[in-house]
Amino acid sequence: MTTTQDDRGELDRAAHAAARHRELFGTEPEGFFAAPGRANLIGEHTDYNDGFVMPLALPHITTITASRRADRLLRVHSRDVPGPTVELSLDGLTPGTVKGWAGYPAGVAWVLLGAGHRLGGADLYVESDVPTGAGLSSSAALEVVTALALSELNGLGLTPEELARHSQRAENDFVGMPCGILDQMASACCAAGHVLYLDTRDLSSRQVPFDMAAEGLRLLVMDTQVKHAHADGAYGQRRAECEAGAVALGVPALRDVAYPDLDAALARLDATGLDNGVIRRRVRHVVTEDRRVERVIELLEAGRPREIGPVLTEGHASLRDDFAVSCPELDLVVAASTEAGALGARMTGGGFGGSAIVLVEADATAAIGEAVTAAFDAAGHRRPRIFEALPSAGARRGALP
Ligand code: GLA
Repeated sequence: MTTTQDDRGELDRAAHAAARHRELFGTEPEGFFAAPGRANLIGEHTDYNDGFVMPLALPHITTITASRRADRLLRVHSRDVPGPTVELSLDGLTPGTVKGWAGYPAGVAWVLLGAGHRLGGADLYVESDVPTGAGLSSSAALEVVTALALSELNGLGLTPEELARHSQRAENDFVGMPCGILDQMASACCAAGHVLYLDTRDLSSRQVPFDMAAEGLRLLVMDTQVKHAHADGAYGQRRAECEAGAVALGVPALRDVAYPDLDAALARLDATGLDNGVIRRRVRHVVTEDRRVERVIELLEAGRPREIGPVLTEGHASLRDDFAVSCPELDLVVAASTEAGALGARMTGGGFGGSAIVLVEADATAAIGEAVTAAFDAAGHRRPRIFEALPSAGARRGALP
């Protein structure tokens, strides 16, 4: 099993980043900030339907060292993306104009300025060990850590919820990806040792203890390292289909269709004659998925974590068959791991590639990893990267040595 790419301690990471910051920008960093990637335990494609989600933060983080500038320049440099430092004027930011990774920090600055906050220029040095394109929210980690760094540098005092909302807006309106708020809330608000039970309608939430090791269990992430083309377009299409379903049913969002009313709602949809079955399936996924979040929370709070396994696997089938966002590699992780004795497994995140989570008995971890790897070899797929999803802390300011 691989560990994180950066398993140095956080203080050590801060020291290295500070040295690089001085080299790059010729100034002393004033702050060191971190925000994590996430896995979502259950509640997929529910967030833009005002529904429920249950993410945990991963140990993988994106960090920023930051210092203020006397002018209006935003200078950003990434360790992980080859290329020169990107220099932008805070006064010239326009949606769609900043290509590549720098669009995320630029978008956050643009949103903060648009919200009426006063920002001065800044130098930001970024390092990340959140796998990119893996469905583990590397974009949200970058947005949230930027929002935190700019908030602290400029004395804005933004709350974790505000960091998440501004970050989502940056992704929606500057980068142009119509995501919900799951990833940004996870990165900003998760707590170590917990999953975040979140109502995405009003952002009310509860930290739920999630200590799988104490139960003799492990939650694994299996990153298929595939990203299928057109994923972003298909995401927007799913979102539009859900909105069409809500309109046809006369509700503000699909969250407002209660699980006991699902059959009646589907019959109403059928009667409209609008649909060839696609919207019906999307509605069924969202309503049953909200119900699965409720089931998982009940089981966790009743101290019956093993029983969440079948709920996860059922959630995968719904994402595969009703929501059509899975892919052969994700389906293979789920099939091979559950056949080898995993308690449950499902894709996590937006889908069309990326990662699955797999719940296993601790002593079966190695055997199940090997079974999945063998199945990937047999199918001719590149082997998945496997690591443990240890519920970790959300965004924070770290110490500089
Ligand atoms: C992506 C989006 C989230 C959420 C998930 C699916 O990660 O960024 O807002 O919709 O897909 O649950």
